[in-house]
Amino acid sequence: MLRAEGVAFYTEYTNSKKRCKSVGSCNSKGCCETAVIEVIDKCGRAEGNLIPILHELQNAMGYVSEEAMETVATELGIPIGRVHGTATFYTLFYTKPQGKNLVRLCDSPPCHIEGSKAIREAVSKALGIKPGETTEDGNFTFEIVSCMGLCGVAPAIMINDDVYGNLTPDAIPGILGKYAACSCGCKEVN
Ligand code: FES
Repeated sequence: MLRAEGVAFYTEYTNSKKRCKSVGSCNSKGCCETAVIEVIDKCGRAEGNLIPILHELQNAMGYVSEEAMETVATELGIPIGRVHGTATFYTLFYTKPQGKNLVRLCDSPPCHIEGSKAIREAVSKALGIKPGETTEDGNFTFEIVSCMGLCGVAPAIMINDDVYGNLTPDAIPGILGKYAACSCGCKEVN
């Protein structure tokens, strides 16, 4: 599932409700607003449901956009600052489109001692981005995270749900190559 640009919305809503196939990426505020309101209706219009609503929006769109936050604030009758503050406080929420593949590198002490810095440099070199960034083609997002429970195979990375441990910098291009976007630009893996 492409996490960026609301393509999950595309799947969920076009399959079940025959909605606009560009929901989340068409820049038509009214169109996306309708979809966001449906999520709010599903979760319940109460401020106490703010976090579940943000979860649902992220599951559907891959991230919580500024426009979605504005709609949530309006529909729940709460300040936009409260919605924004919640969405940006928790690291599990993304406020920008994320790449199709999420590369997470642990930099907690055990991985750091075992060479995560060199792995970080190798990933950055291979993808042409720094931690916290997404490749231009939307195929990869690179993040530095805390311990993932893989200390026994430090240094370790996770790509989506796949684990790679006992890494060396030389191994990185080959590993990332497994997730390369199709050269035709269709965003499918080769
Ligand atoms: S310290 Fe890196 S996975 Fe635990």
